[in-house]
Amino acid sequence: MTANPLAPDWLSQPDDANALAATVWPRNAVRAASGVISLAGADATALAAEFGTPLYVVDEQDARHRAAELKTAFDDAFTAVGSHATIYYAGKAFLSTEIARWVTAAGLNIDVCSGGELAVALAAGVDPTRLGFHGNNKSLAEIDRGVEVGVGAIVLDSVVEVERVAAAAEKHGRVQAVRLRINSGVHASTHEFLATAHEDQKFGVPLAAAPDIVAQIRSHPSLRFLGLHSHIGSQIFESAGFAEAAGRLLMVHAGLLEGGEVPELNLGGGFGIAYTSADEVTPIATIAQELARVVAAECAALGIPIPAIAVEPGRAIIGPSTVTLYEIGTVKDVVVSVVSTGSTTETTAIRKYVSVDGGMSDNIRAALYQADYSVRLANRTSDAAPALIRLAGKHCESGDIVVRADYLPSDVEPGDLAAVPATGAYCWSLASNYNYLGRPAVVAVKDGAARVIVRRETEADLLSRDAGIPSAAAPDQKATA
Ligand SMILES: Cc1ncc(COP(=O)(O)O)c(C=O)c1O
Repeated sequence: MTANPLAPDWLSQPDDANALAATVWPRNAVRAASGVISLAGADATALAAEFGTPLYVVDEQDARHRAAELKTAFDDAFTAVGSHATIYYAGKAFLSTEIARWVTAAGLNIDVCSGGELAVALAAGVDPTRLGFHGNNKSLAEIDRGVEVGVGAIVLDSVVEVERVAAAAEKHGRVQAVRLRINSGVHASTHEFLATAHEDQKFGVPLAAAPDIVAQIRSHPSLRFLGLHSHIGSQIFESAGFAEAAGRLLMVHAGLLEGGEVPELNLGGGFGIAYTSADEVTPIATIAQELARVVAAECAALGIPIPAIAVEPGRAIIGPSTVTLYEIGTVKDVVVSVVSTGSTTETTAIRKYVSVDGGMSDNIRAALYQADYSVRLANRTSDAAPALIRLAGKHCESGDIVVRADYLPSDVEPGDLAAVPATGAYCWSLASNYNYLGRPAVVAVKDGAARVIVRRETEADLLSRDAGIPSAAAPDQKATA
């Protein structure tokens, strides 16, 4: 069979459009003998029937294991070079009280970047000293709250924040530990990184400004400087970008040691995961070892002690653990014109549009970043030939696509259940109520049992803030901060 010309170059037609690629699916996902996908022992069809669709299903053990493995990988790598590492789970990827408990039980700290994320972590009972607080524009109220509850570290993102955090710390009679976020000029994504002197982005301060800002930090008895921080991007598969950033930061770090202690270096998050079977992921242990080697070599060359290292992965922990289940509502074959490069002859090809009962409101990553995902039928297998499909949502937006290209059995039909893996990171956390869809429930599965960790939003939830509805009693809307 000739390949569908609408298929992207990276996507090859599978021999079996029912197969689950081990790199992409949660570790406890299998096809049961019945043909139904089983997620940690729970049948996808039973989950959909009990909790409805769309539904985020998190493999609890998978998430916990990835958190623990990441910690072990960095602990081992940095202990081997005479230092140690702290892992912060980046809560922005997907935070609920339950997930906060899983990652802290695995020995991780948590990064939050708003008062809301801080509130969730505190509601989970996380020890505030295990929290890092990020953000390029934390409000005064957020800073005050962070200091008041005693967060372990605040990441300063601009000069004005030095004074703001110092003032809050004085007010609460605390000495607040702080990091300084650097715009290192290194930006990485997948296999490539870009290294410039100055990067055009909103986060951090230039490396060259760090000595003066650190002096300003050190002039405040209410602040304790921990070290420099950089986050170079996301979905990174190779250590070269981290190594470049580490090298740049350590040069400045070495100079800062002349004015006082600099116990730590924070290299941010961004470790990549497989969204499709074409993504080849470098094992996290390899990245950790490579980083430890580079940091140790740079420190030796600079003649300085190896600082403690901190990293902040989100996606690598929670991304692969989750599958979104959708019910398929409509299927249509769309005839598309194809003009091959260098030719004026127009041919046609068929793209099967398979529409589901969610979309960009539960997964905006394809629309926002042209992210690729994969999809399988969850309720059955089929021997029908694979057909190139596009999994679309139900929103009034042509860019409302969940899976831009994959193959499903060509007999896919309304009523089938679709499962999209690797939706743990930046899907629920970026979810919206576009078109007044309620945000889906999140269910954790383990040993065949399922439990709701975040309930589905109801129509009543959606109407509850509309002040034009008398029954939606509006609480006092005056700003309290
Ligand atoms: C400062 C910072 N740290 C960590 C992360 C987590 O990145 P990832 O989930 O790709 O590991 C992000 C993501 O945007 C970030 O901005």
